[in-house]
Amino acid sequence: MRTQVGIIGAGPAGLLLSHLLHLRGIESVVLERRSREYVERRVRAGVLEQGTVDTLVEAGVGERMKREGLPHHGIELRYGGAGHRIAFERLVPGRAITVYGQQEVVKDLIAARLAAGGDVRFEVDDVAVHDIDTDRPYLTFGGERLDCDVIAGCDGFHGVSRPSIPEGVLTEYQRDYPFAWLGILAKVKPSSEELIYSRTERGFALHSMRTPEISRFYLQVAPDEDLAAWPDERIWAELRARLETVPGFTLATGEIVERGITPMRGFVAEPMQYGRLFLAGDAAHIVPPTGAKGLNLAVADVRVLTEALARLFADGSTEALDGYSTACLPRVWRAQHFSWWMTTLLHTFESDDAYARRLQTSYLDYVTSSDAAGTTLAENYVGLPYQEETS
Ligand code: APR
Ligand code: PHB
Repeated sequence: MRTQVGIIGAGPAGLLLSHLLHLRGIESVVLERRSREYVERRVRAGVLEQGTVDTLVEAGVGERMKREGLPHHGIELRYGGAGHRIAFERLVPGRAITVYGQQEVVKDLIAARLAAGGDVRFEVDDVAVHDIDTDRPYLTFGGERLDCDVIAGCDGFHGVSRPSIPEGVLTEYQRDYPFAWLGILAKVKPSSEELIYSRTERGFALHSMRTPEISRFYLQVAPDEDLAAWPDERIWAELRARLETVPGFTLATGEIVERGITPMRGFVAEPMQYGRLFLAGDAAHIVPPTGAKGLNLAVADVRVLTEALARLFADGSTEALDGYSTACLPRVWRAQHFSWWMTTLLHTFESDDAYARRLQTSYLDYVTSSDAAGTTLAENYVGLPYQEETS
């Protein structure tokens, strides 16, 4: 078998890449370890930047998102007994976010690929990459061989592509946070129209949503927290304690339909490429979810990679491909910084003394009272323009 681009992983990065390449007349095969049902049900984040929304709409896969996604023009920062709105419509006019679950994006992309006759293979075992330092790389899996011009490693943080790069090539940068997020999905109407990021002495909590009937919540917990220690009553009691911190706000509760614990980590591998292997999305970098940047960064990488591959297949030029990592990394690091900043602003760190806590409050006061500081949050949150748009 042969294809132009062999793609490992059917998450948002791999599926969107396959779709965008198809729109340019470039063939690909996507190899995914999990089943279609599994990837379509996997609950992840759900905040899409303006640029992500525009990318999906322009690529013809935004129909359902436009219908069912929830546009938001602000978020609330809640602390010190009051709520403070960061008003996107005033601070970053014309830019907003859309709340639409990542697995809904994945469903839409899979449907589009299959409708176009795309080759997406699920439950594929033992994917391995070979000869990436030549211009005839290939993939093997389940006894088969797929020859490619280029391989895209879109297989997430725990995939096989990044570890296939020879030792000594990559520099890895990592920051582990001393806490995790316990996330739940519940059948209950959201208690707020907008997302609430709440900082309390008990730790951080986030109230998000998926639809007018489904809410999503997160609680800051210990890094080694055991989900079994969190029966429903304890989850709701803790969410109430961390969200009912302003007068008149009552949290509605409902049936919990999904739960999980996510470690909080920032990670970047540089460069995001080696020979004919190109890493995109979580395979190259992850962020703590506080800034809601993970999926959006994957989309930004894939846009750059698509352009570079289009050049390669149009005239054989490798110039844009050679510059892929250099083109992506500024946005990757901006998102690392923003995610670290939001995390630091809102979480309780055991190592913090009273002085550090006062600094945190002072910064929150600044962000919620100064348009200059509020705009810093707002423009990063809705997403800075793509590099192509600024150059
Ligand atoms: N072989 C084939 N597929 C693999 C392998 C492997 N060895 N290892 C992992 N995969 C698949 C995973 O099952 C998953 O479906 O690769 C896919 C990677 O998808 P994601 O983890 O969703 O990563 P990405 O597409 O980069 O999307 C980034 O996802 O993790 C979130 O927070 C992150 O929102 C961000 C987004
Ligand atoms: C979510 O809805 O899953 C979500 C929202 C905002 C975040 C992280 C996750 O910062």
